[in-house]
Amino acid sequence: MEIKKVGIIGCGQMGSGIAQVSAVAGYSVISREIEDAFWQKGFARIEKSLAKFVEKGKLTAAQKEEAMGRLIGTTKMTDLADCDLVIEAVIENADEKVKMFKEADKTCKPETIFASNTSSLPIGDIAAHTSRPQQFCGLHFFNPVPLMKLVEVVRTISTDDATYQAAKGFAESVGKVVVTAKDSPGFIVNLLLVPYLLDAVRAFEAGLASREDIDTGMKLGCGHPMGPLTLLDFIGLDTIYYIAEIFFDEFKDGRYASPPLLKRMVNAGLLGKKSGRGFYDYSA
Ligand code: CAA
Repeated sequence: MEIKKVGIIGCGQMGSGIAQVSAVAGYSVISREIEDAFWQKGFARIEKSLAKFVEKGKLTAAQKEEAMGRLIGTTKMTDLADCDLVIEAVIENADEKVKMFKEADKTCKPETIFASNTSSLPIGDIAAHTSRPQQFCGLHFFNPVPLMKLVEVVRTISTDDATYQAAKGFAESVGKVVVTAKDSPGFIVNLLLVPYLLDAVRAFEAGLASREDIDTGMKLGCGHPMGPLTLLDFIGLDTIYYIAEIFFDEFKDGRYASPPLLKRMVNAGLLGKKSGRGFYDYSA
């Protein structure tokens, strides 16, 4: 299965990052959003990120322009019809993802491989709503996609070998290191990361230490690039809240229960960096 053309559903933080690394690797990319303004915002983010790479000498100005030239934005799912691979990166909500894939299933050629960038939902449950569960897998990228080296490739009980190999080959071709996981909520990374982040919120809520000291403790004590509260702000508190709810629903284990403070902050619109305030203030 040769992949030349990649369709990406959703051009937010993750979708635009996946579009960026795909275009840089030489793929033709069609990015589908619900409004033109959304993919335009995503493409502006890509342009800014590529400019950073040019500034650092990691890309030439010509390579940046070539990559930008491989990107097309659209609001029509039918424009993804002849894509060899379609990757979905919309909100972490099962109904929304199923809706997207049902639409794509109607319009895409029979050979098109489908992949979800979900970080927590069972892929097989989404795939079951399409006519091609054997051509369906998980391709889980990490934020920020252009910098993070890992992709989790997730095989469901239905994913066939050719699809798995094609998806793995694609992730490697965009410069990522691949780990393979079974279709269990959170796969490898989030299964271990999310309880740690929730524990950090609980520790802060219980008054163990200041937010700065919790973050400095884990940065300098464990060599993490970011402390847990900074990382929560970076990922988005709403995203972690949705993931925790999905895990709790699946495992019925208190480790995955959302701390009350996290829920209060999400309901108050304190979502982290993207909303200007989370555990820290980004308004300046
Ligand atoms: N494109 C291009 N350049 C970028 C960039 C992007 N998208 N984002 C950051 N950079 C650049 C910065 O501008 C900076 O450049 P300068 O050195 O010229 O200033 C450089 O990369 C380094 O960035 P920073 O100085 O801001 O800080 P850093 O050295 O800490 O690196 C980081 C940033 C790579 C994000 C690092 O902090 C890190 O690895 N953080 C942890 C991220 C993480 O854990 N991600 C996983 C989240 S979990 C997830 O994604 C799964 C999920 O499903 C929820």
